Amino acid sequence: MKSILVLNGPNLGMLGAREPEVYGDLNLEHLKKQIADWATADQHVEVRQTDSESMMIEWVHEAFNNKTDVIINPAAFTHYSYALRDAVAMLEGVVKVVEVHISNPHRREKFRHTSVISSVANGVIAGFGLESYRLALNALT
Ligand code: DQA
Repeated sequence: MKSILVLNGPNLGMLGAREPEVYGDLNLEHLKKQIADWATADQHVEVRQTDSESMMIEWVHEAFNNKTDVIINPAAFTHYSYALRDAVAMLEGVVKVVEVHISNPHRREKFRHTSVISSVANGVIAGFGLESYRLALNALT
């Protein structure tokens, strides 16, 4: 059984209500159910969300300590959190990391075109709505 942590950053707890024209009208609970359905029989997947940078970093440390693959939507932390980047960099060669985004940040405001996380992730999936998470799970099979 392969364990995978799906970590969601700030404001993703407001999915469904938040800018539905960008992020869709399905909420985080729906995403959790979808991910449980999408996981293969040998994937044990836990989905978490936090608005706190320190909590997110602690969860990355947990993934390091427990050798758990990570799917991470760092949300706004993507664009500026060197602390989160340093934490994710620790995972290199230890576990796999897939960065996901619901929207395609490159089609949006300029500040979203920079990800400080991408160069320490194994891969990036962006722009496919909640399907981005399914593609990330596939990438880890
Ligand atoms: C996001 C894109 C980020 O730019 C934004 O800050 C988010 C969500 C996405 O999933 O499309 O909160 O990561």
